[in-house]
Amino acid sequence: MDRIRIRGGRPLEGRIPIGGAKNAALPLMAAALLTDETLTLENLPFLADITTLSHLLVQHGVSITMTGASSAAETGHTLAISAKHIVSMTAPYDLVRKMRASVLVLGPLLARCGAAKVSLPGGCAIGTRPIDLHIAGLERLGATIELANGYVHAHAPKGLVGAEIVFAKPSVGATENLMMAASLADGETVLVNAAREPEVADLARCLNAMGGHVTGAGSDRIAVSGVSRLHGARHRVIPDRIEAGTYVIAAAITGGTIDLVGANIRDIAAVARILEEAGVVVSEAADCLRVTRANGRLIGVDVMTEPFPGFPTDLQAQIMAAMATASGAAMITETIFENRFMHVPELCRMGANINVHGASAMVRGVPELTGAQVMATDLRASVSLVLAGLAAKGETIVNRVYHLDRGYERLEEKLAACGANIERLVDGG
Ligand code: EPZ
Repeated sequence: MDRIRIRGGRPLEGRIPIGGAKNAALPLMAAALLTDETLTLENLPFLADITTLSHLLVQHGVSITMTGASSAAETGHTLAISAKHIVSMTAPYDLVRKMRASVLVLGPLLARCGAAKVSLPGGCAIGTRPIDLHIAGLERLGATIELANGYVHAHAPKGLVGAEIVFAKPSVGATENLMMAASLADGETVLVNAAREPEVADLARCLNAMGGHVTGAGSDRIAVSGVSRLHGARHRVIPDRIEAGTYVIAAAITGGTIDLVGANIRDIAAVARILEEAGVVVSEAADCLRVTRANGRLIGVDVMTEPFPGFPTDLQAQIMAAMATASGAAMITETIFENRFMHVPELCRMGANINVHGASAMVRGVPELTGAQVMATDLRASVSLVLAGLAAKGETIVNRVYHLDRGYERLEEKLAACGANIERLVDGG
């Protein structure tokens, strides 16, 4: 298995292009199932999760053709996805268990074909990750759902019927699944207590480009007027706010200045606020976000993860790495997932002083971390170890970087271009 070797201590200086958002691209790809015409998605990143979902769609009978970058100046590539002939309505366990976002095919398959058999995703490293909100919402739209042998068996032979759906808590995936299903339902659907993430709004824009009628996305109340069919469209994926936030924190932890090309400050406003309190300046320049750490050490700042527009859970591990080197203490509270502190013991092996008490971690900043062999456990935990390695004295080896490849395109290349001493050690040659 590949590893990444980092020799830390260098401030980062340079420009980093921000790619298309993984967590927007995945539901957008699933939306292609809603029409028999071609959905063309631009600015997609090269990521393992995108490849995994492509494999799943192909086994449903979808044809996918990739073309190069959307234009010479840009990164990202274009996928033309055509679900003209759906040959299977089953999303098998061996693919769904690899990536739980596969459950996003449930709503579109049910709406388009009247039936779907989708493996329950099961838990993952960061939590049990149930899909009860997805299932309850589909039942509200008139589907009959049976859970048997580890699968969701959903049927709506006469089609789905619009309804009001009140989510017990905001769920990004459930909001996306239900928005897609409701787009082909008969009548009006209202999603109350919906997730407000930018990726939800991006999906709504795409559904509307396909002939759908979705309003209110980005707020906690989304209205969908169902249509009889959706047509093809061309849609450009929004920039990845979690990738952008990760590199903002990379500048913070190394004490450098990075220009993030293509990042959207509105999508990381909560992150910018926390970092400004910690002594980092985030400003908008002509074609980028400029992030620079003012003189001296970071200042410890308390952080609580919340649904958008709050501080994102997907940046909790990264901000913890930065707070581990700050002056003073930071209480970091994870309110979204029940087991998202697996980076803590690995950061402690690098000299961090962190104590976990239930959903909170008390981080007492130390003047310097020291390099070590560390183990990646999940996507965002692994990148927090890379960030710690960039600041640490000496050499850090991050093992199991396949976690990283799920969500970060060309990470070591982008960091090396800003002066980081970082390289991938390909195992077994
Ligand atoms: C999406 O996951 C993201 N993944 C996650 O990013 C992100 O951490 C999460 O939203 C929260 O922002 C994609 O978009 C592909 P949720 P999702 O449904 O949709 C509970 C990454 O690193 N819940 O908003 O699965 C759930 O257990 C990944 O890129 C239920 O109880 O998250 C969690 O505690 C990790 N029942 C909370 O709600 C349900 O039916 C929020 O989950 C669904 C969710």
